[in-house]
Amino acid sequence: MSEFYDLLTSYAAYTDQKLNELLPPRDNYQKKIYDAMRYSLLAGGKRIRPVLTYVSAELFGLDKEVVTPFALALEMIHTSSLIHDDLPAMDNDDYRRGRLSNHKRFDEATAILAGDALLTYAFEVAGNGASALAESALKEGNAELAINVSKVVPALAFRVGTEGMIGGQIIDLKAENTTIDGDEHEALCAMKTGCLLTVPAEMSALVAGRCGTEEFELLKDYSMAVGIAFQVKDDILDVEGDPTILGKNVGMDDADNKTTYVTLYGIDGARIKLEELTARAKENCKKLMEIPGCVPEKARFLYDLAEYLLERKN
Ligand code: IPE
Ligand code: IPE
Ligand code: MG
Ligand code: MG
Ligand code: MG
Repeated sequence: MSEFYDLLTSYAAYTDQKLNELLPPRDNYQKKIYDAMRYSLLAGGKRIRPVLTYVSAELFGLDKEVVTPFALALEMIHTSSLIHDDLPAMDNDDYRRGRLSNHKRFDEATAILAGDALLTYAFEVAGNGASALAESALKEGNAELAINVSKVVPALAFRVGTEGMIGGQIIDLKAENTTIDGDEHEALCAMKTGCLLTVPAEMSALVAGRCGTEEFELLKDYSMAVGIAFQVKDDILDVEGDPTILGKNVGMDDADNKTTYVTLYGIDGARIKLEELTARAKENCKKLMEIPGCVPEKARFLYDLAEYLLERKN
């Protein structure tokens, strides 16, 4: 496992460095918005979504640098969703990533704008990345790749919007003070959390020209299983996690009277669900290891990642 941790840490460090370069401090009239964006973006975070983006691409034989703009964009989108998620109008959380949440450190108006600015900048970065890839594909006479690459940004937008993360967040608000049933709750989690964890597979498959392949279907199902498991674990940690390790307060779901995996199935039921989803994800990795054209070490990394996410304390 130590090889796995080393690689996970190096992917995260690479992400931090690239994000820092992408969003340097500014000393202009609008300095405050840059300060607020950097405050939440560069506060640590596990960087799981970028890691999934690099490894999905590497599984298909690409270098991680090829998809780095998309990975960074995704982390900015995720951070934007966290800033907004913490607002008093949503979950009303005072701590995030081991520090005061954005609206507590700054103010609500600044936090709204910082979330908007990260979301907008993410699409600028992803769009520029896609243009550069399309341009080099066309120079090499590869029109098919250029067309595939042009689909990356719309695919990303779809998973963020009303059928994706934002769709999930609106159902999540409904799940406050009203109990929703298991099916609706499952749809909620697939959207609010699953979508940002499956879009790495989609973006990487487009760039690698692997859409519609068996390996793509396996990777997508892996990502959705891990994505739902991620929310199950998040709900469990909200009940029994250590806030100093988590970097955010616990007991918040209960305070918001939210329907969660724990309220629906109990802590033991939630744990069983987490184990079943992780087993499904690992099964897919075993199959991926056997498929020609997939890099087996990367399938192994994904296997270890599923296990790590099951055990995680933050
Ligand atoms: C928290 O995401 C929000 C959920 C989708 C459950 P992470 O647990 O990935 O948060 P960071 O990025 O590590 O702070
Ligand atoms: C957040 O889910 C999912 C997002 C889209 C931001 P939670 O509300 O459970 O995440 P935490 O517990 O605040 O990190
Ligand atoms: Mg929330
Ligand atoms: Mg929250
Ligand atoms: Mg939570």
